Amino acid sequence: MQNWPGLIKAYKKWLPVTEKTPVISLKEGATPLLLLESISRRIGKGVKVYAKYDGLNPTGSFKDRGMTMAISKAKEEGCEAVICASTGNTSASAAAYARRGGMKAFVLIPDGYVAQGKLAQALVYGAEVLAIRGNFDQALEIVQEASKNYPLTLVNSVNPYRLQGQKTASFEIIDCLGDAPDLLCIPMGNAGNISAYWMGFKEYYKANISKKLPKMIGFQAKNSAPLVENKIIENPETIATAIRIGNPVNKQKAIKAKIDSKGDFYTVSDDEIVQAYKILGKEEGIFCEPASAASVAGLLKIKDKVLAESTIVCVLTGNGLKDPECAINNNDALFYNDLNPNIKEIVKIMGF
Ligand code: F0G
Repeated sequence: MQNWPGLIKAYKKWLPVTEKTPVISLKEGATPLLLLESISRRIGKGVKVYAKYDGLNPTGSFKDRGMTMAISKAKEEGCEAVICASTGNTSASAAAYARRGGMKAFVLIPDGYVAQGKLAQALVYGAEVLAIRGNFDQALEIVQEASKNYPLTLVNSVNPYRLQGQKTASFEIIDCLGDAPDLLCIPMGNAGNISAYWMGFKEYYKANISKKLPKMIGFQAKNSAPLVENKIIENPETIATAIRIGNPVNKQKAIKAKIDSKGDFYTVSDDEIVQAYKILGKEEGIFCEPASAASVAGLLKIKDKVLAESTIVCVLTGNGLKDPECAINNNDALFYNDLNPNIKEIVKIMGF
């Protein structure tokens, strides 16, 4: 939409903003809802599967929805510096919005476990990057403590404005489909996004804009699945580094979303994630990051439980360009290198 004003302005009556709130925006939101024909065919039964492609936000992930709100409110409150822990996307988004708002951004990341594209973003956006010998959960404990004791605004998803901004994705889905889907499939890390989507669906339902509520189906990577296993995972591991989290801070909200929506949580293995990642790329023309592919991997895994004629939305949370290493190491492409610049040799390889 040419005149899309960014999500705060578009949905301001649903958000805790006033005329006085300085809107710090990169015109996030209004991301495409794409019909996934190949995935729908794989599920069968007349089911329609859509992707909410939130990797097309300005910094390449859904975090921008929450960050425009969190940073605008921080600015309104006179904040000069923000802090977050991150597996990468939050840090990229926090850095971009904080700098745009004239604030400092301190980001704590698990050293060696942040995809290259995300680290590159935080650096270019001018964050102060602090890489710890530890995991995301440890980084989050530190930033929570630091923000209590120093003049720093915490912009992880414990900041309620983050979830307020992120709930607008549900509004967009309903605005597009005319009603809520039957199932919402979503990857879970710190479990803020599933909680935000549920809040958005409930608000439109209460206002009679939608006629139904979806079942919230959350997916975690197999060795990083504290919500499925109902216990803290001390050393989470997965190829989907974005959701390599062992102690989700929004645990209670996510469990409530699951129970209230009659949804469920499941695990997906790294192999299943990579499989879905490849299908999305090769058959749908969609390049998402591995954590995002967990939603489609999960749907394919539970396809026998899906009711005929259902409408399903899978949330693709981040852009594939974020993690080039995963892409290079996980594809079925034919890649010939070290070739002579000779047309005969080239067309021979092409099979002519
Ligand atoms: N997908 C992607 C691409 C993510 O970056 C994240 C979280 C999630 C899914 C899970 O969302 O935490 O709300 O359940 N990334 C955070 C970060 C932790 O630091 O960028 P969640």
